[in-house]
Amino acid sequence: MNKITREALFNQVRAWTLQAGAQIRDTIYDPRTIKFKSNPKDLVTEMDQEVEYFFANKIKRYYPEHLLLGEEGYGDKKIDQNKTIWILDPIDGTMNFVHQKQNFAISIGIYDNDIGEIGFIYDVMNNNLYSAMRDGGAFKNDRKLDQLSTNKRLEESILCMNHYWLTENNHINHQEVEQLVRDVRGTRAYGSAALEFAYIAEGALDAYVTMQLEPWDFAAGRIIVQEVGGLTTNIFGEEIGVLERSSILTCNPSLQDTLINQYFKQAKK
Ligand code: IPD
Ligand code: CA
Ligand code: CA
Repeated sequence: MNKITREALFNQVRAWTLQAGAQIRDTIYDPRTIKFKSNPKDLVTEMDQEVEYFFANKIKRYYPEHLLLGEEGYGDKKIDQNKTIWILDPIDGTMNFVHQKQNFAISIGIYDNDIGEIGFIYDVMNNNLYSAMRDGGAFKNDRKLDQLSTNKRLEESILCMNHYWLTENNHINHQEVEQLVRDVRGTRAYGSAALEFAYIAEGALDAYVTMQLEPWDFAAGRIIVQEVGGLTTNIFGEEIGVLERSSILTCNPSLQDTLINQYFKQAKK
């Protein structure tokens, strides 16, 4: 995708994202129908569906040659990775949306021929828009984010992970993770993968690790993190395909090697 096309698309997506976010904010206290998908932890509301439908319609009308991969099923059934693909999570952090009415985001990553071109993560209730264009740096609203430091030490780092890591599980020997929790300065969990990527990009977190995400959870985040020099792989350091479901480690570049080799590979089951 050339620079002119990328910039025009960026401006259009930005406007639609702000519009969709305003609609969520304006109706945040309206009654909601909450449904379970695969289990009682996997929630969906009509707002998740409405936001995805809003983007699906816009894409069909204004960019009919583009494809949509969305969480809620309004996207294209067949995705050709050689085309321009919008990867959308209409509300990332639905549990927070339902329970807290905050700490959720609209997440959109646009890939062309497998290359990440544009990323948006919109923290709707705080009206903070994180964005990036390939090779153009990353922004929080109008402020350009700094490159991440290259000399961060683990003992000065804030690690983001949920508490599931410290319970018996199929992926990782949880006793090994206990040492990691003791070795970092602090731990946090926010319940929205997209926001957790955004916090990595702005340096508010230094590493975010999670056992399984879907493409729409991280499509935007990894573009934004890359623009500030952060690294994203699976928890064993392998590259992740654009359409893959995967474990994720996204972090300050100085922490990646230590986290993978001294902790996650040791803890692998
Ligand atoms: C979820 C959130 C959560 C992560 C889950 C995701 P959703 O997305 O990002 O933080 O731990 O794995 O499924 O369902 O709220 O869009
Ligand atoms: Ca999600
Ligand atoms: Ca979602």
